[in-house]
Amino acid sequence: MPLRRLVRVRAFAKINLSLRVLRRRVDGYHELRSIYQTIALADRLEVEIDPHSYGLDLQCDDPQVPTGPANLIHQAASAWRRALRDRRGIRIRLEKRIPTGAGLGGGSSDAAATLLALEHLTGDRLGLNERLALAVALGSDVPLFLLGGRVLGCGRGEEVYPLPDLPPRRCLVVFPGFSVSTEEAFRWLSSGLTDASTRYNMEKIGTRSLLPLLKWGPAENDLEPVVFAKWPELARCKRRFIQAGAETALLTGTGSALYAVFDSAKQMSAARGHIPPEWKFFETRTLSRAGYWRRLFNDGKFSRCS
Ligand code: C5P
Repeated sequence: MPLRRLVRVRAFAKINLSLRVLRRRVDGYHELRSIYQTIALADRLEVEIDPHSYGLDLQCDDPQVPTGPANLIHQAASAWRRALRDRRGIRIRLEKRIPTGAGLGGGSSDAAATLLALEHLTGDRLGLNERLALAVALGSDVPLFLLGGRVLGCGRGEEVYPLPDLPPRRCLVVFPGFSVSTEEAFRWLSSGLTDASTRYNMEKIGTRSLLPLLKWGPAENDLEPVVFAKWPELARCKRRFIQAGAETALLTGTGSALYAVFDSAKQMSAARGHIPPEWKFFETRTLSRAGYWRRLFNDGKFSRCS
């Protein structure tokens, strides 16, 4: 059967169910223990191999999104071509739905989806280890999207282990309209992460669970205090979600997005009333590992391939 030339793929967002920052490492990164969870909110990519050209062409429906080498999709496709010494042209169209600079992993997920789409189109020539190495080189949050579902992240977040899925939940994601730079947020935290506070962190870990491995919440994100100090409106919104009955509500990654998890549609719609009117929101749901792989290439109107 001839291989396909074009495929449509979904790049799902993630939330952090937990994000503990243990210390700053000598390489400048921060040692993390995090639990990631994929959700149904997704960007859409159309990836095409063009044997008649050599170019790498990326287009996006959002003019704010860079389409050159600054975009992780561009970097992923280039790295894939280098690794396989494949010189054929690649055309990618991106429909951007996940807000950028929000802590939802949109750029990282786009990069992982690009690698998976290129392999899907050309046959699995990279293999698991090399694909993982490419993902790690692209960014700390890329490897989790090679697993999907609930994932434990160690190291700088790139060392990933699949965790069993929790029962599915409704998930309300809010985006206040501004972005937070990951690098800056870690710097704000680092400036207060003295030896004493590291010791305090380690003491806390001794008495409280480091990671809520078996249930939804209570969730903790060590970056919340520094991000909430700059934008108290985020803290206010989180408090209101909890009062409205959220099982857990948290800043995702380094922000700026917040999420809240609910087990009833009624509670989620009541919580919607607490979102400031100028903020964007998405009513979505958590995505199990099986659901992630089922929907990646194959979902109703999105499954049409040439
Ligand atoms: O790995 P990635 O390129 O996504 O990280 C972006 C920036 O976030 C890094 O350059 C670093 O400043 C910061 N970072 C960190 N510790 C981590 C992950 C990211 O300090 N574990």
